[in-house]
Amino acid sequence: MATVPPTTIGVVGAGTMGRGIVQLFVQAGHTVYCHDAQPGAATKAIEHVDGMLARAVEKGRMAAADHERARHRLKACSRLADLADCELVIEAIVEDLAVKRALFRELEGLLGEQAMLASNTSSLTVAEIASACQRPERVAGLHFFNPVPLMKVAEVIAAVRTAPAVVRRLSELTEGAGHRAVVAADQPGFLINHAGRGLYTEGLRIVEERVATPAEVDDVLREALGFRMGPFELLDLTGLDVSSRVMASIYEQFQQEPRFRPSSLVPPRVAAGLFGRKSGEGWYRYVDGQPQRPPARPLPPLPEALAVWVDPAASGADGLRGLVVAAGARLVDGPGNADLCLVMPWGEDATGAALRLGLDATRCAAVDPLPPLALRRTLMLTAVTSPAARDAAHALLAKDGTAVTLINDSPGFIAQRVMATIVNIAANIAQRGIASVADLEDAVRLGLGYPQGPLGWGDRLGAARLLEVLRAQLAATGDPRYRPSAWLQRRVALGLPLTTPEAER
Ligand SMILES: NC(=O)c1ccc[n+]([C@@H]2O[C@H](COP(=O)([O-])OP(=O)(O)OC[C@H]3O[C@@H](n4cnc5c(N)ncnc54)[C@H](O)[C@@H]3O)[C@@H](O)[C@H]2O)c1
Repeated sequence: MATVPPTTIGVVGAGTMGRGIVQLFVQAGHTVYCHDAQPGAATKAIEHVDGMLARAVEKGRMAAADHERARHRLKACSRLADLADCELVIEAIVEDLAVKRALFRELEGLLGEQAMLASNTSSLTVAEIASACQRPERVAGLHFFNPVPLMKVAEVIAAVRTAPAVVRRLSELTEGAGHRAVVAADQPGFLINHAGRGLYTEGLRIVEERVATPAEVDDVLREALGFRMGPFELLDLTGLDVSSRVMASIYEQFQQEPRFRPSSLVPPRVAAGLFGRKSGEGWYRYVDGQPQRPPARPLPPLPEALAVWVDPAASGADGLRGLVVAAGARLVDGPGNADLCLVMPWGEDATGAALRLGLDATRCAAVDPLPPLALRRTLMLTAVTSPAARDAAHALLAKDGTAVTLINDSPGFIAQRVMATIVNIAANIAQRGIASVADLEDAVRLGLGYPQGPLGWGDRLGAARLLEVLRAQLAATGDPRYRPSAWLQRRVALGLPLTTPEAER
């Protein structure tokens, strides 16, 4: 943790975020003044923070003496004017542009010449808030995530007129408090909410196309790719009423960029009150707070003496052949005399692979080559795969106890499509210079909890393959949301890692 000289920080808005911000900075050794328009709210927030620090002492994470000292650095202020001495004021009030602008105007009149003003806004443009001030150069965004003490990242938003010294100072203060400060441009969703779009938009698109159900999408992304939660679990946690507004707002703020086009599945569900956990039903139904998962598909028996052909050109053919033999089925050299033909395409649907290889589509199924075979396996059917071939493939893939998800035909399965979308959006963020590559990678890991930064992850999975998936989706659907970013295309063409920045000029 960098050492930063203690300073006096004001926090306006003593709700969920304000409390967390107060706790973070008082723990880092600063004096924190808290004000809220609601009488008594600031005092309540200080009591709450004091209670959190007492818990940290109980758990041995803070010395009792440090708690005592921190207590003396906390102050609830009933008047905004009491914040006049603060070197920095962080605003965490209601998300309303007019109210925020009025507050910033008033604060500017109260604070000293050198003081900085920061907004924790999630969805407004910082420049719109800053333009209410005489000196917008001292206004920036400082965007924390909930719960603030645990989410170890904050975005420092450099609005068009923000002075570089203000960005530096806010970054130092944030890093000094033990959070990673990432610098992002004043663009819709800033960095983290922008980078997080792909998981939702592509998850919803897959469900819209009836390739898979929400629970199937979540299972594959959690178990085969390592996401902490799938998109539908996350939407249920946040509340679809809230998330649907974020989806619509980012789409509109990006001038209806097709990559962020919201799904038509969402508004009827919001109208019906299917918000998620808080309303007891969303994509899942909740009983005693627990999501009710659909029962697993019954496992069919493995047919006797099953003859299986595996496309020898497939990237994971050896692993799949080993699995066939271990399950007790018989490998055959040609597709002609096989009961079941297995293909492992990248960016191609099972139908396309069957036709390209001259296979009988009724005996054909596809296995996703992206996730390691030891993890949940995805089995994709053509429109005509026979029930016998389907059941044989399911039994074969599940024989060693590994979970299997059956899906309908789609170029890119679930995992390839979602990863290609996430990597494409990240590549476009890098292309637009919304953040540095290093900040983008850390922000996504810390802010979204992904196992890896998106560009490094894309490299590990194979950027050229993900590009193929996007091209195949674009060709199959004609939907411009799948157009590959120039950053991705050029790095693949040059054989460079996706994390390669632009040349110095
Ligand atoms: N909740 C989140 O997960 C989250 C995450 C990141 C950013 N944000 C942003 O942080 C801000 C605060 O969100 P929150 O969830 O803490 O809201 P909240 O409703 O929990 O708290 C807002 C507080 O601001 C007070 N307030 C309203 N107008 C005021 C004014 N003019 N002057 C002083 N106090 C005023 C309210 O009395 C309330 O106590 C919003 O801009 C929100 O978009 C929220």
